[in-house]
Formats: sequence, structure tokens, C-alpha cells
Amino acid sequence: MSDKLTMLLDAPEKFRRLLVLSGAGISAESGVPTFRGGGTSTVWRGMPFEQLSSVEMVEKDLPLVWEWFDYRRGIVAGCEPNAAHLAIARAQISGRFDAFTLVTQNIDGLHRSAGSTDLIELHGNIDQARCLSCNYLLDVAEIPEDERPPVCPDCFDSMRPNVVLFGEALDDDALLQAYESAAVCDVCIVVGTSAVVYPANQIPVIAKREGAVIIEVNSDETELTAFADFSIRGKAADVLPTILGDEVN
Ligand code: OAD
Repeated sequence: MSDKLTMLLDAPEKFRRLLVLSGAGISAESGVPTFRGGGTSTVWRGMPFEQLSSVEMVEKDLPLVWEWFDYRRGIVAGCEPNAAHLAIARAQISGRFDAFTLVTQNIDGLHRSAGSTDLIELHGNIDQARCLSCNYLLDVAEIPEDERPPVCPDCFDSMRPNVVLFGEALDDDALLQAYESAAVCDVCIVVGTSAVVYPANQIPVIAKREGAVIIEVNSDETELTAFADFSIRGKAADVLPTILGDEVN
């Protein structure tokens, strides 16, 4: 780490209001594949993930969308939170910060498994199904595995995964809360995201515009690297415990 960054992290008065924005890379060491990285992007059954996770595909082939999300849920089911998720959860509940906002683009639930209770899941939650008509929510675990697409118990229309798909807007309240926290944080740590997906990638832009220091943690260079005040090249599970002073690991 650079001397300047060490000085910042050692100066608690400059590091009171923290925002962490996480992306798929934070879960990579838990065994969850990322979408992009190393010049490639995910393809399943010969289709790019952007096509599978799209509003168009829900309209065209909802059972296939369920198969894709069941496949992803199967991967996540075997994964445990890693040292990065744990360091964030412990820092959040330690009370050391005046404000600690955790915003994730991930739908894998690993921040919650690590113990984070107060988090903004911008892209939804892979463990929930939502009715196409009445928005009724149900835990996927409560639905028989062969009921695909699931049927809404309230209005009997089909249900879809409760995640944000390509071509859809994010939940207004979640986004507003994330933007408001970005506008008042002192430090914004951006970890494991390619920072190419809008509007989540505006969070560090807002934070910096309002005077926050931006620290990127990523195993590769990204579109954010040149914009960040500090960019640490490394694995999230190695770097986050150091930055957040997580002594347990
Ligand atoms: P991406 O897959 O686009 O980017 C993952 C980033 O993590 C890359 O920049 C990698 O270099 C980095 N990375 C990989 N392993 C890492 C590690 N061990 N430690 C630190 N960094 C690592 O994932 P996101 O930016 O999260 O949205 O993708 C954003 C959105 O695109 C996702 O939420 C998803 C997808 O479309 C929806 O499904 C709506």
C-alpha cells in the first residue's frame, strides 16, 4: 500500500463515514464466477449472460431464465463468505464508523451470510421469486424444484426471479439511498467490480464529486482505476481485512 493510503487509513478523523460498493469479484474467492474479467465474459448454453438475464428472455422463454438462475443458485449454495465479506460485516457492526453503508451489485447473498444486516442489494436477491402480475414475493426454497416457472399463490400468474435484469430499472428507493450515502461519505471503497454497469457505477462518481476519497480494490485494472484516488491491485480477501483493520483474520 502507498504511504499516502496508509496515512489516510491511520487517520480515523478522515475516515468516519464509509461506503463500500461491491461487485462479483468480492465473491470470486468464495467460488462464485464473475461475469467479466481477463477479457472474457460469461456464456451459458452458448448464450451471453446479458441475453439470459434480460427482460426479453423473461417474455420469450421464462423456463430457460429459471434454469439459468437455478444453475447460479446451485453454485452459490455451495459457497461460503470469504475474508472480504467477513471484514466488511465486522467493520459494519463494530460501531467504529459514524456511518457505514454497504451497497452490493451481487445477488449471491454472501454479505448476509457473513453477518451484514444493513445492506443495499441494488440488483435484487437470487433467493426470491416475484409474481409477474402482482409482485408477490416468495422464497425460492419454499417452491417445489419442478415448479418452473413457479405459480403465484396469490393471483396464479407466473413468477420470475426477483433480480434486476438487463433492460430494467433498479428499485428507486435502493438507488436513492445508495446515492445519498455516496454524497456524504468520506471514503468510498469500490471492490471487485468492473464498474461498467450503470447506474451502480455512478456511486463512486457521486462520492468523488462530493469530496470523498475513492479506493479501488481489484485484481485487474478497470474503467475506474484512473478515476480512483488509490487503486490497489489484489484479491479482495487479502486486501479488505487490511484496509478495514480486521484483526481477526
Ligand atoms: P464483473 O464480472 O463485471 O467484474 C468483476 C470484477 O472483479 C472484475 O473487474 C475483476 O477484475 C474483479 N475481480 C475478479 N476476481 C477478483 C478478486 N478475487 N478480488 C478483487 N477483484 C476481483 O462484475 P460486476 O462489476 O459486479 O448485473 O458486474 C456488474 C453487474 O453486471 C452484475 O451485478 C450483473 C452483471 O450484469 C445484473 O445481473 C443486473
